[in-house]
Amino acid sequence: MQLKRLTAFHTVARLKSFSAAVSETKLSQPTLSRLIKQLEEDIGVELIDRYNRPLRLTEAGAFFYEKVDLILKDLDSSITLTQKIAHPPDTLNIGFVPSVLYGLLPTVISRLKQRLPTLDVHLKDISSFKQVSALKAGEIDVGFGRFAHDDAQIHQLLLRHERYVAALPNTHELAGSNDIHLSQLQSSRVILYHQTHLPTPSTSNQIASQDKMSDPSLISEPLLHLFAKRSALPHQTTEVSDIQLALGLVAAGEGVTLVPESLKSVRSGQISYGSLVHEDATSPIYICTLHTPSHPAFTSLLDVIYDIYEERGITYRRAY
Ligand code: BEZ
Repeated sequence: MQLKRLTAFHTVARLKSFSAAVSETKLSQPTLSRLIKQLEEDIGVELIDRYNRPLRLTEAGAFFYEKVDLILKDLDSSITLTQKIAHPPDTLNIGFVPSVLYGLLPTVISRLKQRLPTLDVHLKDISSFKQVSALKAGEIDVGFGRFAHDDAQIHQLLLRHERYVAALPNTHELAGSNDIHLSQLQSSRVILYHQTHLPTPSTSNQIASQDKMSDPSLISEPLLHLFAKRSALPHQTTEVSDIQLALGLVAAGEGVTLVPESLKSVRSGQISYGSLVHEDATSPIYICTLHTPSHPAFTSLLDVIYDIYEERGITYRRAY
């Protein structure tokens, strides 16, 4: 089966119009029709319902379109990766979530540059969720994030789990305390800031909101999930768009929040950071790439990260 026939069908089906496909592909309408007809003969299935306007796919055609769409996207990213292997880039584009910038990221980058002095590193602040499309589009080579992705095209390694700490205004009754129980924060306003949420079971839409409150697995907001696991959902919450804003509100006395412990130095004059008693209240750090890592700097990047963990006595999970 010719690739040309598949792409002709894919373009017409995606644009739902022969004339739009003509202007995108620069092929004539008779050529597009012939390619699709040949594809239908190849597989012995009618894909386009030619008796209706606007253009519609048959049921089998709609199914086939979904499959072809995945195959062509996979082919595109394989071609990009193959080109990168053949012509190793001297630029490494790294996407990161803001919370890792306050931790080890600056040290990791400066060590990597010492090790590979000709490498140009570009950093891009981008949520865990958006890193998936940025990797697929080739906008970034590597992403540091705090969520696992359920996507066959994404390769991810768990680097470590970082403990959460409570961030409290200096005026809060627990300021200066350690070993805090989340239930002790239940009556404070909790500031939420995550852009990416945890996956929940697909049935969750049909479940009454009362039941959602009692089942932590149905609560996708990462901080609320931690509270729900201790049956201590906060009475009041405020949502903001990033972790810096959340800490700004805490500093202003508007509420409390939980942040990975590497943020303990942020606004430390106005915010009291206290450890939590819960050992499993952690935020993972993942390194993600498209498929198997192919960038020539990837191994050096991992080596640098592992070296830093070893030097600082940080518990981590080694991939090799
Ligand atoms: C870390 O905190 O473990 C980390 C942060 C950024 C890049 C790599 C590791």
